[in-house]
Amino acid sequence: MTSPMPSRLYFDNAATSFPKPPGVFDAMARYAADLGATNGRGAYAEAMECGRLIRECRERLCRLFHGQSAEHVVFTLNTTDALNLAIKGVVGARLAARPRDEVHVITTAMDHNSVLRPLNALSTRGVRWTCIPADPDTGLVEPDDIRRAIEDRTALVAVNHASNVSGTIQPVAAIGRVCADKGVPFLVDAAQTLGHVPVDVQEADIDLLAFPGHKGLMGPLGTGGLYIRPGVERMLATCREGGTGSGSDKDTQPATLPDRYEAGSLNAMGIVGLGAAAGYILDHGMAMIADHERHLMGLFLDAVDASGLHKTLRMLGPPTPQGRVGVFSFVHPSMPSAEIAAALERDHGILVRGGVHCAPRAHGTFGTIKGGAVRFSLGPFISAEDIRRAVAALSDVCGVVKRISRARAKA
Ligand SMILES: Cc1ncc(COP(=O)(O)O)c(C=O)c1O
Repeated sequence: MTSPMPSRLYFDNAATSFPKPPGVFDAMARYAADLGATNGRGAYAEAMECGRLIRECRERLCRLFHGQSAEHVVFTLNTTDALNLAIKGVVGARLAARPRDEVHVITTAMDHNSVLRPLNALSTRGVRWTCIPADPDTGLVEPDDIRRAIEDRTALVAVNHASNVSGTIQPVAAIGRVCADKGVPFLVDAAQTLGHVPVDVQEADIDLLAFPGHKGLMGPLGTGGLYIRPGVERMLATCREGGTGSGSDKDTQPATLPDRYEAGSLNAMGIVGLGAAAGYILDHGMAMIADHERHLMGLFLDAVDASGLHKTLRMLGPPTPQGRVGVFSFVHPSMPSAEIAAALERDHGILVRGGVHCAPRAHGTFGTIKGGAVRFSLGPFISAEDIRRAVAALSDVCGVVKRISRARAKA
């Protein structure tokens, strides 16, 4: 059944979350209407209040992932910006310390282009990198494979926490132990986990945590951050220098965090919104939100099962809510994923993403690099009825394809 004017349902939370929790836009509007100033650039009340709100956001984020110091939460534009700072900063510091040595970095086949592309760009500057394969059914990486790949020259291990293609959660605590044993800095890309599942940087021995503000944390676009474990800054060169509002009598970058890595004016309005979003998550409790999302994943998987869709479509990654986040990608045997996504929007108002999802080696692992996959990604405000409607729509689109194929075969 197609509806002439379907109301629109957003299932693309892996790209950016929508809607945002209550209070986020109010906080941003209040900043824009009443403050408007930038932190650290003046001693008047509005600039001081902006500084307080930004500090509050750092503290809330630090509590969320159990960091040791809120000053070590550095704001960035997004996850990509944070990953570039982490990768290029570690490589830059290593090249500065041992200019004649080759630098080696390890990543995985499940990693996003925001890791793969910086590494490729660095290949021209003497950086060699190893990509650890993942299991083609589950998408899981074996921590022992990482242990075996570590060399004397390995400067960094960069691992995707949960895949934006299959939803697979990697065993980061086990990988963190391997890196701690070997004394190699461990960078985790938490783009698909922070705000969805508990993340504990101390428990998982994470040295650098790159995260978006605009996905699971439910802040606005243009926000993200890098958490730098105290002491790790000694291995992290700056990638950008400039004004910080501190130590302004000197023409050298301040050594103290966060200013060392935050050159230029911040996205204060976005960070104020992110602070409100982080407050919402802390108030509700990360464990409660994770439980709720696990419940939604169960509903989604049950609906797929009940509809019989699993007989037509191949779903990537773990088949149960365990060991995954709510990112569900499907492959049809004959219909390109981009066409399924277009039909879902056109005929049902369901907003999903089709194609290759910026992680070519993950698609290579699953054998889906050609047509990609159609991806539904959940958020905490999706209801049971929304899930029912989305799965029914997918069923309808696949049914239409089946009817057309049968008619073609008969003709
Ligand atoms: C696993 C993963 N890493 C990194 C990114 C890049 O995130 P951002 O858009 O915040 O730069 C994404 C975006 O979808 C992602 O899914």
